[in-house]
Amino acid sequence: MTAVTSEAAVAPLVGAHTPVPCLDGVERPYRDLDCAASTPALQPVADRVGEFLPWYSSVHRGAGYKSRRATADYEAARDSVHRFARRPAAGDDVVVLVRNTTEAINHLAYRLRLGPDDVVATTVVEHHANLLPWARVATRRWVECGTDGTFGTDDVVKVLDDGRPPALLAMTGASNVTGWLPPVEEICAAAHERGIPVLLDAAQLAPHRPLPTGPDFVAFSGHKLYAPFGAGALVGPRRTFETGDPFLAGGGAVDLVDLDEVIWTEPPEREEAGSPNVVGAVAFGTAVDELERIGWERIRSHEAALSSRLHDGLRATEGVHVLGPRAHADSDDEGLAVAAFTVDGMHHALVAARLSAEFGVGVRHGCFCAHPYLIRLLGVGRAGMARARAAVRRGERGGIPGAVRASCGLGTTGEDVDALMEALGALAAGLPAPVPYVQDPVTGDFWPEGDARGWGEADRPAGAVCARG
Ligand SMILES: Cc1ncc(COP(=O)(O)O)c(C=O)c1O
Repeated sequence: MTAVTSEAAVAPLVGAHTPVPCLDGVERPYRDLDCAASTPALQPVADRVGEFLPWYSSVHRGAGYKSRRATADYEAARDSVHRFARRPAAGDDVVVLVRNTTEAINHLAYRLRLGPDDVVATTVVEHHANLLPWARVATRRWVECGTDGTFGTDDVVKVLDDGRPPALLAMTGASNVTGWLPPVEEICAAAHERGIPVLLDAAQLAPHRPLPTGPDFVAFSGHKLYAPFGAGALVGPRRTFETGDPFLAGGGAVDLVDLDEVIWTEPPEREEAGSPNVVGAVAFGTAVDELERIGWERIRSHEAALSSRLHDGLRATEGVHVLGPRAHADSDDEGLAVAAFTVDGMHHALVAARLSAEFGVGVRHGCFCAHPYLIRLLGVGRAGMARARAAVRRGERGGIPGAVRASCGLGTTGEDVDALMEALGALAAGLPAPVPYVQDPVTGDFWPEGDARGWGEADRPAGAVCARG
């Protein structure tokens, strides 16, 4: 096993290892193994926000000094994101600042002006953010995965060539469930040979690897890369945004408006109607600069060590089953430090609840907003899906299939992973629960009975509701 010590946290994160209350009355350092969902702020990001706030003002339209300065900072953040996306400075691409990846993909789905006769090729590995927007505007054609949760370039090519050429290939850069990294550049080359543009959902990839330059469009979120202030990006060719109605209509997106006429302005402003999230953009720009300052080699080697420790530990724990390509020790998959797993005889929501309430370990459970992928990885089958569908229609989420996910980031230490392993080993070996846990049939979550500090009835609103994928 690769040695990782607590010193290995690569960068200071705000609130890392804050003590949290457990059922036995002891406060334990919070083991944040839910980085694939959202990350705390990097300290330099929080510092930059603090520094910027006294200068905060409206951007683009104010004549005051603070407006000018805030505009410069907002545009500098856009430049940072442009650089981070590895687009040539003098090239044709624009960065549209949005809220998050979901908004970026919905934005693009609107802007491509597709119709029901258009095909968008996508994959069963995708997060719902890269599945549902395409269902609204086009016909989808699927790249399936194998039982190990992966597909190859050949599988994609078969789908691209299976009938009318798709108007777009929409794919993820990294699975949010298994951490698997598809061969993005190779797939982009194959799509481009056929004249098919590619959107990369880089929500999971962007915090961990340099962005590939092959995709035509890239979408990612600040809150997954240590800037939890509500900004994200859609990057793509200017020509996509130069004509047609913008996604949002309103102030800031126009040059001239009369009662029956509008002249839209140039992108990217054309795509950013309304007052933008200036503070979020400044945080986002700072975070991407900081990732580059830290360096991809350092990030990669830190996360590779954690990934080995995590997967080796999970595979060595009796009763625990890893999903996806790294289920077996001989796998040479070099995915992210993310693992989805099940525990024999324990509901996924109970595992997550006990890890949190008894050990201070924060993970996620459920389907991770990737239902088609998870039901394939779990081998749920048609009958299982029919049962789950019927239960959900009755308002019962407790029967939704699912798994537990642990995911690491820059602030994760070897001790965090070890704490998970120790806790999981005890649970899988049948450690009796100190109090009964009761499942809420509506949310599907488990909650410990009693009134331990932080876990009493009054604390329930702060509990997780993971089942809503
Ligand atoms: C692969 C992937 N795509 C898209 C999203 C959606 O990101 P956001 O919630 O920031 O819009 C996520 C979030 O978990 C994700 O993991």
